Amino acid sequence: MPDRSSLAIILAAGEGTRMRSTLPKVMHAVAGLPMIGHVLKTATGAGIGHFAVVVGKGSEAVGAFAAKLAPSAAVFEQVERLGTAHAVLAAREAMSRPVEDVLVLYGDTPLVRPETLARMRAELAKGAAVVVLGFRTDAPTGYGRLIERDGQLVAIREERDATEDERGIGFCNAGLMGFRGETVLSLLDAIDNRNAKHEYYLTDAVEVANQRGLKVVAIEADVAEVGGVNTRAELAGVERIWQDRARQAALLAGITMIAPETVFLSHDTVLGRDVTIEPNVFFGPGVTVDEGVTIHAYSHLTGAHLEPGAEIGPFARLRPGTRLGPKSKVGNFVEVKNAEVGAGAKISHLTYVGDAKVGAEANLGAGTVTGNYDGYDKALTVIGEGAFIGSNSVLVAPVTIGDGGYVASGSVITEDVAPDALAIARGRQVEKPGWAARFREMKAKTKRVRV
Ligand code: UD1
Ligand code: CA
Repeated sequence: MPDRSSLAIILAAGEGTRMRSTLPKVMHAVAGLPMIGHVLKTATGAGIGHFAVVVGKGSEAVGAFAAKLAPSAAVFEQVERLGTAHAVLAAREAMSRPVEDVLVLYGDTPLVRPETLARMRAELAKGAAVVVLGFRTDAPTGYGRLIERDGQLVAIREERDATEDERGIGFCNAGLMGFRGETVLSLLDAIDNRNAKHEYYLTDAVEVANQRGLKVVAIEADVAEVGGVNTRAELAGVERIWQDRARQAALLAGITMIAPETVFLSHDTVLGRDVTIEPNVFFGPGVTVDEGVTIHAYSHLTGAHLEPGAEIGPFARLRPGTRLGPKSKVGNFVEVKNAEVGAGAKISHLTYVGDAKVGAEANLGAGTVTGNYDGYDKALTVIGEGAFIGSNSVLVAPVTIGDGGYVASGSVITEDVAPDALAIARGRQVEKPGWAARFREMKAKTKRVRV
């Protein structure tokens, strides 16, 4: 059950100029999902029931995406950029109703784990007014240092304000913070902008809380969780970490991959037990793979459901709307789109099946093509159970091949074929005995030298 008394405020106002993009930074995808989507998912995973997203000026796309993914999310705009505390206060209204705790998360920091957010909440439940997420590094330059005394976090010292000794501290501020609901607003309202940048720093809440004798603690997260994205190079680095985690989880869940580092998963890929994935396979969004499926090398899948024991590839392409029945087979250089393939059906080589229903145990020969599109509309091809389509046939949709029907190789089928009938739709073979020998003899007289 989502905890309605817990609020996550996600800062997504970053301009992201270093991304060199027209897309807002937090809309750049990791494993096929915009970064802000990962943060919303993680917060949901930590049981948080309320969301507020703070977007920058002109970032309607971000608000719209957040509202689509989490319909209960409230979207606020930070019109002027006056600092992180100012950004959080843009969501004042969300903090005005009674909540147990408030976590401040960042739309460009998508790798934080739900367990980590749960640990932050646990500290607040135990009585801390403020909790700060820290990480340890040998290269702390540029980060705020966490200064602790007897288990109390007494200050966050920004690089430029730190003494020589303090700069030696390797425990750094990741940026994520949590607050007890009853004191959050009074702490944030007490933050001023008397600093070099004239910004309202969220980190100053630590000092304010200490002045009031409130408990403030820092907890540690793995450095890999707290990496933020400012450039596309960092985005690729975050993707690498995300993929590594997902591959490890898949291996532990009973998936075989002989070269997991070459398999790319999507944020929503579902893999059943005893699935085998050969090297160089790419999963786009919306793929579900049931038990015992084999995916051979160099296959590309998006929006497909593979039922138990199905086998695809090498070099198979499954596009959205594909459903492969149990023990069906889709072989090399086969593309399937918006099609249901029945149990045990075989589409083994060099074939395009689009907008189709293929019956159980049907067999489509090499080079079968569904002519599903006339340039304006898509039309359906129905291939009955146990039907047999000879190689290099075009099935011009809309068309139905009845159960057990047979199509001769090289046919262009434009009319329905009755069950168990044979359809031949091609020029009849003509043979002219001796024609080739006569032809060569005639040519030899006129052209002595072959060029
Ligand atoms: C901040 C922390 C620092 C920490 C580091 C971790 C402060 C004062 N310092 O430094 O201790 O080690 O993060 O990366 O907080 N933002 C807004 N609106 C604003 C200002 C910022 O939404 O008005 C967003 C930014 O887009 C960014 C985030 O808040 O995503 C952090 O702000 P930034 O100015 O980058 O802080 P840092 O200098 O990195
Ligand atoms: Ca930053």
